[in-house]
Amino acid sequence: MHVTHLSLADFRSYARVEVPLDPGVTAFVGPNGQGKTNLVEAVGYLATLGSHRVSSDAPLVRMGADRAIIRANVRQGERQQLIELELNPGKANRARINRSSQVRPRDVLGIVRTVLFAPEDLALVKGDPGERRRFLDELITARSPRMAGVRSDYDRVLKQRNTLLKSAALARRHGGRSMDLSTLDVWDQHLARAGAELLAQRLDLIAALQPLADKAYEQLAPGGGPVALDYKPSSPEIVGHAREELCEQLLAALGEARKQEIERGVTLVGPHRDELLLKLGQLPAKGYASHGESWSFALALRLASYDLLRAEPYGGGEASVEGGGARRAGEPVLVLDDVFAELDTRRRERLAELVAPGEQVLVTAAVDDDVPGVLSGVRYAVAEGAVERV
Ligand SMILES: Nc1ncnc2c1ncn2[C@@H]1O[C@H](COP(=O)(O)OP(=O)(O)OP(=O)(O)O)[C@@H](O)[C@H]1O
Ligand SMILES: [Mg+2]
Repeated sequence: MHVTHLSLADFRSYARVEVPLDPGVTAFVGPNGQGKTNLVEAVGYLATLGSHRVSSDAPLVRMGADRAIIRANVRQGERQQLIELELNPGKANRARINRSSQVRPRDVLGIVRTVLFAPEDLALVKGDPGERRRFLDELITARSPRMAGVRSDYDRVLKQRNTLLKSAALARRHGGRSMDLSTLDVWDQHLARAGAELLAQRLDLIAALQPLADKAYEQLAPGGGPVALDYKPSSPEIVGHAREELCEQLLAALGEARKQEIERGVTLVGPHRDELLLKLGQLPAKGYASHGESWSFALALRLASYDLLRAEPYGGGEASVEGGGARRAGEPVLVLDDVFAELDTRRRERLAELVAPGEQVLVTAAVDDDVPGVLSGVRYAVAEGAVERV
């Protein structure tokens, strides 16, 4: 799968820009702050409906404009699709596929898949558990786009349940009448159901990712591993793998935690509290691994994601029927935002060799010398809002 044309309007620093793209390697080169990352951020947005740099859409809209448009032509085999996304901060975003009437933005997921490497990835290893949960959940959604719905159901239920717990906690603290908590049972059911689905997918993903991450780490830093991905659920009672048993265990754990939850006014059990522990050798990577080792680990996780996505059809095994047949998304687009400058020569060359055969590889770098030789391809100069082929 590859993007054949990217068109932006009022996105980040761009009032308008048109970028024709070929398969193979394309490098965007130019001084700092000229809009290189902005371009690849837009491609990433098509795949995740989010930015790898910010958690809300507002900064993506050009200062002074009230909406941004990302438009992309995407080729998958013989099939050509046009995706249009309109970002309206504070209001609902809009989406169209092939100029048809509107679809939900979520329906766009799965058409473009990306694996994006960026300096921000260091947070995967060194950052809060939320960074690793987001990594897992984005990959789950890339494997099966319907998980976007499960994730948003879970988030909604969690929010409502927290609101209820918070008022219960307040009422308790102020000595008011204790609240009728029977509605909490209903929310427990919803939370456990969506939570179990998310959890089952995360566990399945980690099992698939583990050997690939270990292999990738060995390729980047021979002899430096092994690396392990260890999933730690929010409660020791959660030990299952299948969705049904996970649902039961989540319900039981919620029952256990209820008293404490009412005291604290917040949901203490569920995948939003889980941790993915990354281990290098016998030690946790976070807090122990060196800067270079942390980088290699983060890169290994991205390379493993790439291996995983390109090996399996869109839908993660579940046939998605569209127009009568399962839709294969094919190879993800590889995006390498400013990563080579951060690496020593050996790892730089290894990474470049591993990604070079990708169907489409988009690279950004401040100077030509930061783009490894094996990634020779099309070059664009990015400066002062202009993107020109050189
Ligand atoms: N919403 C926005 N409206 C207008 N300009 C913006 C907006 N968001 C970011 N910018 C501008 O875009 C520029 C940053 O672009 P980008 O991050 O793509 O740079 P870059 O070429 O990748 O630089 P570097 O080499 O430092 O990574 C900054 O000058 C910033 O002020
Ligand atoms: Mg940049």
